[in-house]
Amino acid sequence: MSSAEGQSLREPKYYTVKRHLLEVTDSLLPGSPVPTERVLAAELGTSRTTVRQALFELVAEGRLVRRQGSGTYVAEPKMTWPLQMASFTEQATANGLTASNQLLSAVRGQAEPDVAGRLGIGAGAAAFRIERLRLADDRPIAVEVSYLSAARFPQLARHLRRGSSLYAVLHEHYGVVPASAQESISTAPATPREAALLDTDTGAPMLVLGRHSFDGTGAPVEWVTSWYRGDRVTLIANLRP
Ligand code: GLP
Repeated sequence: MSSAEGQSLREPKYYTVKRHLLEVTDSLLPGSPVPTERVLAAELGTSRTTVRQALFELVAEGRLVRRQGSGTYVAEPKMTWPLQMASFTEQATANGLTASNQLLSAVRGQAEPDVAGRLGIGAGAAAFRIERLRLADDRPIAVEVSYLSAARFPQLARHLRRGSSLYAVLHEHYGVVPASAQESISTAPATPREAALLDTDTGAPMLVLGRHSFDGTGAPVEWVTSWYRGDRVTLIANLRP
């Protein structure tokens, strides 16, 4: 074996600690406490920095959860989130969870060219920018920013202050049902604001979903970006031929 191959097979120390911790925590129930960094470092004969790095990755992956001022615990299993032409409310319900949301802002303004293009309206035409915190069983799951045409959906912000499901509002007040969509999936580290809203750390991994929805006639309905907590959610897509 060449020295280069030998090098690539060498595992960083923290990774060995991480694998060990994973074996230990796999045998524990969700909510079980994990020993402190200091105790683990002493037990495993390594530095606290090494243990910290292993714990950091396990938290980012959603295996462990850190509670401020309390300690680190084995996390609940992630929720599986189906990728479907459905609303957040419907997706949560399909998971046996109760959806709720906080309307963070609802602003009517001039659409930027990229948003206008997505919505099929003229550059500078009016659009709503709706920002919501989405919760499932009262736990924050995602921050969602939605753009919709203000001419097509007059009074949308007012209706949304009363009802919690955008798709229900679109159906009830405008007779519009999103029928198809293109959804993109990428990742990003949480910004300080997202982290504060989602009760996680700045830099925590986020799953970023972009949905461009159309009605039955093919006309654009919404352009939405959702930042999901990557440590809480596994996205599931059913692929068919
Ligand atoms: C999902 C979609 C969004 C859509 C939203 C509507 O989160 N990614 O594009 O706007 O559902 O959900 P609700 O009707 O619960 O507000």
